[in-house]
Amino acid sequence: MARRTLRRLLSEARVGQLSLTGGEPTLLPRIHDIVLLARAKGANVALLTNGTLLTEDDIAIYKDLGLAAIQIPILSHRSEHHDHITMLEGSWERAMRSAKSIVTQNPKWLTPVFILSRLNIDDIEPTLDLYASLGVKQIMLNRFNIGGLGRKYAEELNLSHEELRDAFSRANRKLVELGMYAHNGVCTPMCLLNPKEYSNISFSYCTTDLAMRPLTINYRGDVRFCNHSPRVMGNIHQEPLTTILQREAENKYFDTIPTPCDKCELWERCRGGCRAASEQLYGTFDRVDPILEIGKK
Ligand SMILES: C[S@@+](CC[C@H](N)C(=O)[O-])C[C@H]1O[C@@H](n2cnc3c(N)ncnc32)[C@H](O)[C@@H]1O
Repeated sequence: MARRTLRRLLSEARVGQLSLTGGEPTLLPRIHDIVLLARAKGANVALLTNGTLLTEDDIAIYKDLGLAAIQIPILSHRSEHHDHITMLEGSWERAMRSAKSIVTQNPKWLTPVFILSRLNIDDIEPTLDLYASLGVKQIMLNRFNIGGLGRKYAEELNLSHEELRDAFSRANRKLVELGMYAHNGVCTPMCLLNPKEYSNISFSYCTTDLAMRPLTINYRGDVRFCNHSPRVMGNIHQEPLTTILQREAENKYFDTIPTPCDKCELWERCRGGCRAASEQLYGTFDRVDPILEIGKK
């Protein structure tokens, strides 16, 4: 089904960048075939995995296939903290083993991911030291974004605005010291984290122009705005992707400006943070990122 869906997608669109994510993409049998199919059509392919199932063989095959990047969350320098967050004993050991195999091939191939929450806020500096010891220069630094199972554990995970700003400042100082750079892939309102204050951290902002944005398509062909949005816009086995995107552009679902942002001069760049999180929490795209409400203390 995944192969059929990818073939359909590749026949309809020129795919420049394909990220295989999940869920856990390495659970998919013969995922190498999927990578091959996309590579044969000229797509850059990245793998976003928890790193627990990667074997030496897999890594050699991905190298031959010209996989562009592998992202693995390493959530702390302390195995027990990582395993507590993943809820899987032994996952840190296995993720680290994969990370080490990947950097042996090429350190630029690995992007370790730190997902910042209350559970690992004290581990920032030593974890960045650990990344540096792997020879990595470029990392992901995501704030915990509410959604999915994370909603159930929100109390344990959420940070206040002050804690979040302070954590990003600390991370930035450490990145400068180590000569490393981070990208925050979770769109965050600019009034909460001002990108100018973090010299070594770049920030994603979320375009609602459907012709420009990265889309998420699951193995059954369901199209969503992004990996965090629960709302299915259509299915590429039932209608062409262009029809789905045109309908969405016409129905103006993504065109609203949330009330606290309507007079803000940052709006055009900021777009109110992650509004897929608003869909997750409030059931609507119309409201500003829930982080503004959640982190108020
Ligand atoms: C959804 S996961 C799926 C792939 C794989 N199973 C994994 O554990 O990395 C893909 C990426 O999403 C990001 N991510 C996952 N949960 C997140 C959360 N609650 N907040 C922010 N980023 C998150 C991480 O950057 C992770 O690398």
